[in-house]
Amino acid sequence: MTSGSAGKIDLRSDTVTKPTHAMREAMARAEVGDDVYGEDPTVKALEARVADLLGKEAALFVPSGTMGNQLAILGHTRPGDEVYAGQGAHCAWYESGAAGALSGVQIVEVGSGGIFDADELAEAIKPRAYWCPNPRLVVIENTHNRGGGKVVPHEVTSRVAELARREGLGLHLDGARLWNAAVATGLSEKELAAPFDTVSVCFSKGLGAPVGSAFVSSAERVLAAKRHRKMLGGGMRQVGILAAAALFALENHRERLSQDHAAAKRFAEITRESGRATAEPPQTNVVMIDLPGAADPVVRALAERGVLVSAFGPKRLRVVTHVDVTMAEVETAGRALASVLAEAS
Ligand SMILES: Cc1ncc(COP(=O)(O)O)c(C=O)c1O
Repeated sequence: MTSGSAGKIDLRSDTVTKPTHAMREAMARAEVGDDVYGEDPTVKALEARVADLLGKEAALFVPSGTMGNQLAILGHTRPGDEVYAGQGAHCAWYESGAAGALSGVQIVEVGSGGIFDADELAEAIKPRAYWCPNPRLVVIENTHNRGGGKVVPHEVTSRVAELARREGLGLHLDGARLWNAAVATGLSEKELAAPFDTVSVCFSKGLGAPVGSAFVSSAERVLAAKRHRKMLGGGMRQVGILAAAALFALENHRERLSQDHAAAKRFAEITRESGRATAEPPQTNVVMIDLPGAADPVVRALAERGVLVSAFGPKRLRVVTHVDVTMAEVETAGRALASVLAEAS
């Protein structure tokens, strides 16, 4: 299927996908009720399915990954606390300063490139002193978006989790793209989520649902998060219509993520073969391309050829593959980049 944005090949993000015909039919058929009254059967079915998939007691359907992360931070922390997250973490860069505004905490970015190990965390944790912020929570993002869709090695997660436990810190997993990590590693979502107290996952990224995420944890934490969700205006009514899309995506779009990973690898290969830019072999569906010159003119030249990508730094492009682009379109986009770079050199 040709991607959105009026027939262009849209590789800006995996959030640009549109619901398929079959997904729309599932939405139309959804049984619904008032979810603030706890009466929406489709939402209940989704929450039970997600809790089961992640091996936790309960889940809560929320409008966005941002809300999922913020419910975690609200639940784990108090004002004056400190949160540790990898460099470039979504919760530090792309949530409009919500952690500071809503929870009154500061986020410290640890390590470089998004993934940090236990030694780097140990160095970052402040002393327990009344004049320091209170160390409280560690956030791991898997896969890591700004890190180029990198998968956090499970042994690294285990060592970080061990240190966090010893230090009495909470552990949250920003699993917006946990589905991609599961496909890339062959580990189940349950195994990947096991070390964490709280997890947020998104249905609206690679899985292709139009809206929605879940906050997943113990029954007690989910109950507390429900109150915070209501405070933030996230109590929704006949929202089974959206939960149906998420359920459909979970059952039908997880395995196919391997196709997105293969397409991302192909794009990186074409880029490297051009000899005019570098691209690390991607682990999942995100390709970061380092250019010899400025990114913005390349983004514009590609858009003129019908290919949309994002500038992700002065000399860096981000390309994300997803359910609405075919391998053939990704090949076309890769060749368009090679020819734009050839013309510019
Ligand atoms: C790693 C990560 N976490 C959280 C989010 C937030 O999701 P949303 O856009 O639904 O708020 C995103 C969005 O791209 C993300 O990449």
